[in-house]
Amino acid sequence: MMSMANLSIDSSRLSDELQTLARFSDAEDPAVTRVVYTQPDREARAWLKGLCREAQLEVREDAVGNLFARWPGSDPALSAISTGSHTDAIPMSGKYDGTVGVLGGLEALRALRRSGFRPLRSLELLMFTSEEPTRFGLGCFGSRLLGRAADIVRMDRLRDTEGISLREAARSAGFSGDLETVALPKGYYSAFVELHIEQGPHLDRSGEKIGIVTAIAAPAALRFVYTGDGGHAGAVLMPDRHDALTGAAELALYIEEVGRTNGSPDTVATTGVFKPHPGAVNSIPSRCTMEVDIRDTDLASRDRAVARVVQRATEIAARRGLSVETEVINSDPPAKCDDRIVETIEGAAREAGLSCRRMVSRAYHDSLFMSRVAPSAMIFIPCDKGYSHRPDEYSTPEDIANGVRVLATTMARLAGDANA
Ligand code: HGY
Ligand code: MN
Ligand code: MN
Repeated sequence: MMSMANLSIDSSRLSDELQTLARFSDAEDPAVTRVVYTQPDREARAWLKGLCREAQLEVREDAVGNLFARWPGSDPALSAISTGSHTDAIPMSGKYDGTVGVLGGLEALRALRRSGFRPLRSLELLMFTSEEPTRFGLGCFGSRLLGRAADIVRMDRLRDTEGISLREAARSAGFSGDLETVALPKGYYSAFVELHIEQGPHLDRSGEKIGIVTAIAAPAALRFVYTGDGGHAGAVLMPDRHDALTGAAELALYIEEVGRTNGSPDTVATTGVFKPHPGAVNSIPSRCTMEVDIRDTDLASRDRAVARVVQRATEIAARRGLSVETEVINSDPPAKCDDRIVETIEGAAREAGLSCRRMVSRAYHDSLFMSRVAPSAMIFIPCDKGYSHRPDEYSTPEDIANGVRVLATTMARLAGDANA
């Protein structure tokens, strides 16, 4: 088995690159906002492509801007080993969510090349378009399309808050072509491994250095729009009101209750978007739009929680004399990670002398959909206090370098050594 003794990770270059990437942002440092197809996203893509070419990788992009950077192996007939993550960032978030998997993946390939390793199977780095749901309300639309997990007709109906469609936005960023052309055939890759910060407190608390993800929770997102009469806040007496906001607020509190009383410690339920209309202090809200995120690692528990919320939404509307539109934006099954890759990651962590644990991912990732293209698994590294999706998100250069080392070793093992 090929020794990884002379694998050296250029941690300071990687830290500099993470800081450079963070500057492509619509928010002031230390916060990062980099929404799909916006100027910061487009600048970040161009910069990343330059780094990939500098690393002698063959670069291509598909119809929605998924980026592929390939190190051809000695046997091009064999399916490649892939890694990657995302560089888009939700508003006012941090520097490490997704970017560690993209720039860390690039450094893993550079370090392998510096070590004299030559892959039998090609190695490919991916940067997925729009892992975050921010602009179009649907997370992972780049990897969903790759994994044939997207209803293209529905995707064509997606609009951002300015009414711009996904296709128009992609075209404005320089990407054209049919969405149907994005899907990868099953078996296109032999394996996919994603490096990511944990976005939770377990590794930080336990002191273990590497998390080996065995399953990824099942995410669902729903939109409810309550509609009432509206009216003058001074003139309409309480018994005559049909207040859309208070109806939505009652549902939001019930959503929290469902998260707590669903009979599963892994159920989480969040109202992350809550928009009353017209938003004037002396006007009774006539409409209130809310977007809800419900997850569990167990599909039946997740679906039970969703059903309870949808039923209560309708009851609240009837009782309060409101109307409610309910839309399920996405409702995805969980993903089980591949045992062989999990064991390979575990071996790489132990070989590097790093403490590790097997765990589930409560956040979803592009791996959730890449698992439909190829056997997949994830490598987690600790993040400070488990904080993520906030400006003080942080992982130390040492923890990042550990993750890159384990990723590089795992990919080399899976790819095979052409020099052997
Ligand atoms: O929401 C998630 O789990 C991911 O960070 N987009
Ligand atoms: Mn995220
Ligand atoms: Mn992420």
